[in-house]
Amino acid sequence: MIDSHAHYDDEKFDMDRDQVLQDCIAHGVTHIVNAGSNIESSKKSIELSKKYPFVYAAVGVHPHDASECGKNTIDTLRTLSEGDKVVAIGEIGLDYHYDFSPRDVQKEWFARQIALARELKLPIIVHDRESHKDILDIIKSERANEIGGVFHCFSGSKEMAREVLNLGFRIGLGGAITFKNARRSVEVLRYVPLDMLLVETDCPYMAPEPHRGKRNWSGYIELILKKVSEVKEIEYSAAEEATSNNAIHLFKLQSNY
Ligand code: NI
Repeated sequence: MIDSHAHYDDEKFDMDRDQVLQDCIAHGVTHIVNAGSNIESSKKSIELSKKYPFVYAAVGVHPHDASECGKNTIDTLRTLSEGDKVVAIGEIGLDYHYDFSPRDVQKEWFARQIALARELKLPIIVHDRESHKDILDIIKSERANEIGGVFHCFSGSKEMAREVLNLGFRIGLGGAITFKNARRSVEVLRYVPLDMLLVETDCPYMAPEPHRGKRNWSGYIELILKKVSEVKEIEYSAAEEATSNNAIHLFKLQSNY
C-alpha cells in the first residue's frame, strides 16, 4: 500500500522517526510521498528520500508560508528538484480558512510554483481549503492541467470533484472519510472513479477513526483502504491495487526497488 501524502519531516516524529519508518516497511507500506511545506521541510523531505529507498519527496511552499517566499524561492526549489527522488511540486495552493498569508500573496506563489512545475514537467500536489473558486481559476489560467497532479485531502463537494476530475486532476482522500460526520467526503469517495483516487494519511495529522486526534502514520492507510473498499463495494485488494497504481503512475514511482 502507498501513502501518497505524508509529513515525516514534522517535529512530531523527532523522537522516533526512524522507528516509525521501519514500522511502515514491516506493515507493508511500499512507497511514501513526503510533501514539503516550506524550503526547510522540502530539504528534509529530500534527506528522507535519500535515506529511505521507499520514500519520495515533493518540494514546495505551502500557502501558510507564502509570505516567507522571496526572490530566491523559485531558484531554490528548482535546484532542489534536480534529484531523481523529487516527484512533484507540493504542497502548494490556497488556504482561506487560516489565512496565515495574505490572499494575494498566496495566489502569487501558487501561480509561480505552477509555472515552475510546468517548466520541470512535474505534477503538483494541491492544498485547497475554502478557496475552491480561486484555486480552479488559477489552475486554468496557469494551465496546470497540462501537468496534472492531485487535490490532496480533498474537502470539496461532489460538484467540485467533478470540475477537478474534468481538469485531469486526481483526488486524494484520507482520514476524513472515516470520521462520523463524513457524509460529504463519503459522497465524494463514492463519486470519484477508482482510477482517479489516491489514498493518503497527511500524517502526523488527520488520523482516521478509531485513532482520531492521535498521531497519524502510514500504517493507517489500511484503515483508509478498508473504508474505500466498503463504500465502493469492492475487495480490499482491489482498492489497494488501484490506488497504488494511480500513485505509481502519477508520481512515476519505481514499482520495485
Ligand atoms: Ni499535507
